[in-house]
Amino acid sequence: MDYKTLAHKAVEAKANALPPYSNFHVGAALLTTDEKVYTGCNVENSTFGLTLCAERTAIFKAISEGERKFKAIAIASDSPDYITPCGACRQIIFDHCGEIDIICTNGKEEYKVFKTSELLPFAFGDKDLNK
Ligand code: THU
Repeated sequence: MDYKTLAHKAVEAKANALPPYSNFHVGAALLTTDEKVYTGCNVENSTFGLTLCAERTAIFKAISEGERKFKAIAIASDSPDYITPCGACRQIIFDHCGEIDIICTNGKEEYKVFKTSELLPFAFGDKDLNK
């Protein structure tokens, strides 16, 4: 699937966002290596710290369905600026998706592509455990 189509799926996923506190709607679309797409949106909670970002929703949905190999994730918001994943999601992307393409869209559905290692250089990971 081309990244323009994946970006559009992230825009569509944003329609289900539930951000009553920030009113900042986010959608994500995660592409597996065998071309399946899992979408996600942000879901906020009255205890703000329990909020789940769109990226993590999509990743955990996919993992819980048995998926393990990923190619790219697209992210969309209503901001005119390019949206990039928060720090927590960068770690989750690194841990569960590895070195994938991260498709960051702006309000015109234009996008920039980053590699995981560009957005999270010198990452801590499973390689650093159990030494
Ligand atoms: N948010 C995401 O879902 N993904 C991002 O990449 C950035 C932030 C959500 C979390 C929260 O619900 C709202 O946007 C404002 O931070």
